[in-house]
Amino acid sequence: MPSARPVAVIVLAAGEGTRMRSSTPKVLHRLAGRTMLGHVLHAAETLDPEHLLVVVGHARDQVMATLTGKAKAVVQETQDGTGHAVRIALDTIPDAEGTVVVVPADSPLLTAETLHKLVESHELHSAATTLLTAVVDDPTGYGRVVRSGGSVTKIVEHKDADAATLQIHEVGTSIYAFAAGHLRTALQQLTTDNAQGEQYLTDVIGLHKDAGLTVTATIAEDADETRGVNDRAQLADLARVLRDRIVQQHLRNGVAVLDPQTTWIDVDVQLSADVTLKPNTQLYGSTTVATGAVVGPDTTLTDTQVHEGAEIRRSEVIGAVIGAEASVGPFSYVRPGTVLGARGKIGGFVETKNAQIGDDTKVPHLSYVGDATIGDRSNIGAGTIVVNYDGQAKHRTTVGDDARVGSNNSLVAPVQVGDRAYTAAGSAITEDVPDGALAVARERQRNIEGWTAERRPAKGEEPA
Ligand code: UD1
Ligand code: CA
Repeated sequence: MPSARPVAVIVLAAGEGTRMRSSTPKVLHRLAGRTMLGHVLHAAETLDPEHLLVVVGHARDQVMATLTGKAKAVVQETQDGTGHAVRIALDTIPDAEGTVVVVPADSPLLTAETLHKLVESHELHSAATTLLTAVVDDPTGYGRVVRSGGSVTKIVEHKDADAATLQIHEVGTSIYAFAAGHLRTALQQLTTDNAQGEQYLTDVIGLHKDAGLTVTATIAEDADETRGVNDRAQLADLARVLRDRIVQQHLRNGVAVLDPQTTWIDVDVQLSADVTLKPNTQLYGSTTVATGAVVGPDTTLTDTQVHEGAEIRRSEVIGAVIGAEASVGPFSYVRPGTVLGARGKIGGFVETKNAQIGDDTKVPHLSYVGDATIGDRSNIGAGTIVVNYDGQAKHRTTVGDDARVGSNNSLVAPVQVGDRAYTAAGSAITEDVPDGALAVARERQRNIEGWTAERRPAKGEEPA
């Protein structure tokens, strides 16, 4: 029985990626919330290899800083070709025997299943080389798979191909399984006798074939999976493919995605059945949404927890917790550290930050609540501002349970408003309000009778 556990996976990530025209290394560009390299490593890790080696070169410090878990960097000082890259990685594990998988770091759509199948097929055939190929509409730039009598004899790089070979639409994907010992032997024999003056990994195929070893090829069922990224247009294309893949998965799991084409969901987002996502919704990072919740339209949630039955419309929410049956929006900006209680409300044109807002408490209109704790069943009147910053430091504001803050108040922190306390409309609250008290903190109104006739007489009229 095939063990399907490779001794090593080697990820090729040393290339420069100049066509991205970016100061970010190519393999660190992101789609669906994860770097290209991260996607490839994620798939590779499911093979549970003994060694997970990442060949780094260009921008190695930046790339190495993203490696976690089992992944270990191998530095390729000069990019002398894919064959050279694999050789120096293999040199770090000289005693390894068994299956070695090679994947390029710029094929982010490659799935764990495809890798598993590749390894199984490789071990079943006791092959020296098993390569994954793809049949594509436009093979420009790829190495062409040359077959004779059905079996693969070699791969010819685009730049080395003659006119007849250029007509071939089956291409190499740079995804392989090798037998470690045979791979080592062939890598010693690589030359740089080609158009690019590089040691081509693809030449291992011809060498194994010439040595009478078993070389098998599997054509990828889904050519999209093996697509590489060389420029931003390809990255955008693959991001769309991945978006569709993620949305389809959520649809199958019972999420109502009303407009798949405008719904972008990062890979680590978790959605329960019977969540509804309305058009133009983006769910990023570690966001989770519980059953019955409705998000959108026009809403972005980042690293946010949404509990059962909550509703968030036309708003931006970052690093927040939205309680069960609570509501947010339209047009609100909910910033990190906001915790909205069950059945609570952050209404229209409200900004919150680092604010605990209790169960059944409402901040319905046009307010700013920052660095504040508000109890349960309280109401914050329209236009109220928590004045949390004195120009030097932030201070905290506390409002108790069952409190009523009037419209257009300024709560000047640090300040406390007690349980069941009221504040009058238009108050600037600078001192604590005891439980059950009414605070009035504004000028008493004065009416000057007859002022208009005296000071602003109508045209042609004498002042009174
Ligand atoms: C390679 C294959 C080609 C295949 C194509 C699929 C070779 C010679 N050619 O071509 O047959 O159709 O992939 O996408 O293998 N890298 C290193 N060190 C190096 C050179 C490359 O780590 O010295 C890495 C790159 O960062 C990249 C991967 O290897 O992740 C592939 O290299 P790239 O230059 O993109 O090869 P292609 O020309 O695309
Ligand atoms: Ca490439």
